Amino acid sequence: MAKYAAITGWGMAVPERTLTNADLERMVATSDEWIQTRTGIRERRIIGPGESTSSLATAAGKAALNRAGLDASAIDHVILATCTPDRPFPATACTIQAALGARRAAAFDIVAACSGFVYGLNVATSLIRSGAARTVLFIACDVFTHFINWNDRNTCVLFGDGAGAVVLQPSDEPAGLISCVLGAAGEQEDLMAVDAGGTRLPATAELLEQGRQYVYMNGREIFKHAVREMAESSLEALRLASLTREEVALVVPHQANLRIIEATAKRLEIPMDRVFVNLDRYGNTSAASVPIALVEAVEQGRLRAGEYALLTAFGGGLTWASAVIRWG
Ligand code: ACO
Repeated sequence: MAKYAAITGWGMAVPERTLTNADLERMVATSDEWIQTRTGIRERRIIGPGESTSSLATAAGKAALNRAGLDASAIDHVILATCTPDRPFPATACTIQAALGARRAAAFDIVAACSGFVYGLNVATSLIRSGAARTVLFIACDVFTHFINWNDRNTCVLFGDGAGAVVLQPSDEPAGLISCVLGAAGEQEDLMAVDAGGTRLPATAELLEQGRQYVYMNGREIFKHAVREMAESSLEALRLASLTREEVALVVPHQANLRIIEATAKRLEIPMDRVFVNLDRYGNTSAASVPIALVEAVEQGRLRAGEYALLTAFGGGLTWASAVIRWG
């Protein structure tokens, strides 16, 4: 059995349509100045007609397979991290499996909100380490803009749509996931949620009228939890990997809010020039934010073969996750 699961392919996909802060100024009582100073976001991508979570995720999956030089027939598992599936049932990973023509592959979704990529990386790596899988296509994709009340300025300025994907294959050399720390605080689940549409509160005309199918969030409370848990789990992931903060080439954090990222970096005592930020262009793409940032970091030469990166994320649930990966 392999000791490691190397990332042998990577790719991303974002919709063409861009929604700027100026566009939002025409929709709700907000301003470019408020959004930029409170979040760091300038614009975000929004899916158009005919697009969905599965179409965006399939595009990212294809890019990752191309980069790995693999045909879809080589994949034995398609795993999707999402909390905004095409439909409540069946798993969106099955739609992607069919779209890719990955006939040999098992397919399932995992849900851990914005922490989904790091959670899923741990699951996919464990499958490979155990010998249960050899070639995993792991995609993280969210289309939060379909769960947003476009009249609610507290949430509508924050999110964008996107997908990021990796191919994982066995390796005897240290590569891929080196250490991982996952956490959750279910008693805080109501800090951020979509209430209607599940078994607890099936969608009715009355609930739809009340807008209960949309996401709500206590941003201020989540902010505090996010900084604390991302910093603490990052330090633990470094400790488990036996690495000092100086040995990490790049931190790739969840892209929710620049102030959260800066406060976390400060607690970690890692300067911002070693922290990757792209939320100004994409906003919070939920589970996709870490892999999109990772792909862009690699393409910009900010993370090279043999270097270590620290991934850290936080999201609804509440959930959080930090991991050390070795690139190449
Ligand atoms: N434009 C203008 N004013 C606004 C806007 C807006 N878009 N949104 C809120 N405000 C107002 C509020 O109404 C409030 O006004 P008041 O003081 O008169 O009541 C004021 O701005 C300050 O609001 P706060 O909520 O205190 O603003 P804060 O500085 O906390 O920023 C934000 C809000 C950006 C949401 C921040 O708290 C945040 O980023 N939180 C974390 C979000 C997060 O990480 N979520 C989890 C991940 S997502 C997932 O899991 C899928």
